[in-house]
Amino acid sequence: MSQAIQSMFDAIAGRYDRLNRLLSAGRDVAWRRRSARLLPALGAGARVLDLCGGTGDFTAALQNSGRAESGIAFVLGDFSRPMLALSLPKKLAASPVVLDALRPPLKDGSFEAVLCGFGMRNLDDTATGIRAVHAMLKPGGAFLTLEFFRPANPFTRFFYGVLAPAFIPPLGWLLGSRREAYDYLVRSVRRFRSAGEYAALCREAGFATTRIQAQDGGIAHAVLAVKEASGKAGRG
Ligand SMILES: C[S@@+](CC[C@H](N)C(=O)[O-])C[C@H]1O[C@@H](n2cnc3c(N)ncnc32)[C@H](O)[C@@H]1O
Repeated sequence: MSQAIQSMFDAIAGRYDRLNRLLSAGRDVAWRRRSARLLPALGAGARVLDLCGGTGDFTAALQNSGRAESGIAFVLGDFSRPMLALSLPKKLAASPVVLDALRPPLKDGSFEAVLCGFGMRNLDDTATGIRAVHAMLKPGGAFLTLEFFRPANPFTRFFYGVLAPAFIPPLGWLLGSRREAYDYLVRSVRRFRSAGEYAALCREAGFATTRIQAQDGGIAHAVLAVKEASGKAGRG
């Protein structure tokens, strides 16, 4: 599965940012910016990992949010080299690292914050991915997920059950991308966890508190999970 996902992102990388803007009518930029403000302020010397960071737009949103001082070390981690390569012209102050989110080769307890924008839904095993993030965070560290979660209200059920399958894959295809990539997007949302279930999974992994923020009526959600200050529980 992850090999297929990687090949899919490798193939659509060149059109990824443009299609995001067009298919979300520019809302993806607002979702990243608004959710970045959920993070506690990060001071100089902090380390931040943007997991499944792709072309770097979540890093850019945090860097422009006012939550991150200069002097923060950003790592942009992704298993798709073409996606990471497209972050380079954006001149983000971030180091790209090729990695698998399920087996990140990064030191435990080494980050103040981990971001993951639209990445967790793609992992073969969500719980393993969350536990890996928990392990990489310092005690008291924050994990911010922005994601399309399984619809949990009548509006989002209609959106993801009727509108999205009718319009998103054909539009993706018309705009020059592979239709299957956008069929996958809609299917993966419907079979993923709801935001509430995902927050519960974070708590099971050892996160002490969680907060959920709906974006545009629940089309996307941000989930902020904070690791307990004592640093109990980890990769299991
Ligand atoms: C939908 S894109 C999101 C990119 C970026 N975070 C954003 O907000 O636009 C998902 C990214 O997750 C990456 N990805 C998916 N599964 C991964 C895994 N197991 N390890 C590392 N990266 C992964 C893909 O290569 C892709 O770049």
